[in-house]
Amino acid sequence: MGNIFDNLEQQKSIFKNKKPLDHRFLPDNLPHRKEQITQIAQYWIEALNNVTPSDVTIYGKTGTGKTAAVKFAKEQLEEASANKNVFVKVEYIRCTDYTTEYQVIAQLCQLLGRNVPQRGWTKGEVVNAFRDIFKTNAFGKKLILIVILDEIDILLEKDGDGILYTLTRTDNVSILSISNYVDFKKFIKPRVMSSLRDKEIVFPPYGADQLADILKERAALSFYDDVLDDDVIPLCSAMAAKEEGDARYALDLLRTAGEIADDEDSDKIYGKYVRQAKDRIEHNKVTDIILTLPTQQQRVLEAILKLTQDGEEITSGKLYDTYKEVSKGDSVTYRRIFDFINELEMLGIISTNTISRGRGKGRTNIITLQCGTDLLESTLYFA
Ligand SMILES: Nc1ncnc2c1ncn2[C@@H]1O[C@H](COP(=O)(O)OP(=O)(O)OP(=O)(O)O)[C@@H](O)[C@H]1O
Ligand SMILES: [Mg+2]
Repeated sequence: MGNIFDNLEQQKSIFKNKKPLDHRFLPDNLPHRKEQITQIAQYWIEALNNVTPSDVTIYGKTGTGKTAAVKFAKEQLEEASANKNVFVKVEYIRCTDYTTEYQVIAQLCQLLGRNVPQRGWTKGEVVNAFRDIFKTNAFGKKLILIVILDEIDILLEKDGDGILYTLTRTDNVSILSISNYVDFKKFIKPRVMSSLRDKEIVFPPYGADQLADILKERAALSFYDDVLDDDVIPLCSAMAAKEEGDARYALDLLRTAGEIADDEDSDKIYGKYVRQAKDRIEHNKVTDIILTLPTQQQRVLEAILKLTQDGEEITSGKLYDTYKEVSKGDSVTYRRIFDFINELEMLGIISTNTISRGRGKGRTNIITLQCGTDLLESTLYFA
């Protein structure tokens, strides 16, 4: 018998290359972000004159191209500085991977070729090792370092603003922070704020036409010719434009629609596959979230499900009563339920809105389920 792989036929596919539809793919061209990339470049150009650039802060909702644009600008600056007598480095840190000041500084040391353990030293020792790096010269110049702190909200929330304090107080360091929230600076104390003299750049959500331009370029790299039915890209773009102009979601829709076409052995992607892709993506997202929730939180969801199926208007009082029934005595306090409600709302599984009961009767919070009851039921009881 030969190798079993020899006998298996390669499945035919409408994808010529799936990579360009992956989130991590960095395209050579970023339509509709020229202005923002140029702005970054205008600040960073100082580095080519051996001047430390201003700090920059970038805001924008999810999928608006922040990470892609900054990585693009990083590559451009690296290219431009390679041909000049300057000593410039741009280092990228994703704060979901390095969540404390210690870890970030240690990682920067690693990236710059200084071996520092990921734990074990005092913070002071790591900071000293980091600052020592700036004593080295190249071309008779001192190092200028641009640090990109992507998803900085997570680091600030978890570990405070110490990282910004340390970096702003190290000569020759410029910070570029990327945040999803305009109000992330509430985590920064005034004494740190005053040394962070930053320029702000906003990334607005993409409109449907802009998303279509982005998708067209990626589709051309990913699919064989003529596999896209005419309404596929407009449909993906319109659906993603509704989801706050999220390019990542648009790409997910297109890729998943392609996968469905392959599953169906179809030679083309049709609009109906895009609609199925939407359900499949929502399904995966919701099940992933629910399955990782703590038990008590799942019980709160069970209670919300029950009330929704009974057609009840869900107030927090009613929810708490039902939750106590569901959890059969093993329950958390009424106060804790409010935290759970907030978290579930942030995850997008429920929404709440306050309604007024009329004069003198005060205001009530009404909870509404944001995912299908069938999906929730099958995940809670059969997963
Ligand atoms: N203008 C664009 N041209 C081409 N691709 C883009 C563009 N904007 C975003 N993308 C693609 O969309 C996806 C999401 O973009 P990106 O990761 O940069 O978003 P983000 O703003 O960093 O989102 P988040 O806040 O969730 O981190 C990536 O795959 C990226 O390549
Ligand atoms: Mg990002």
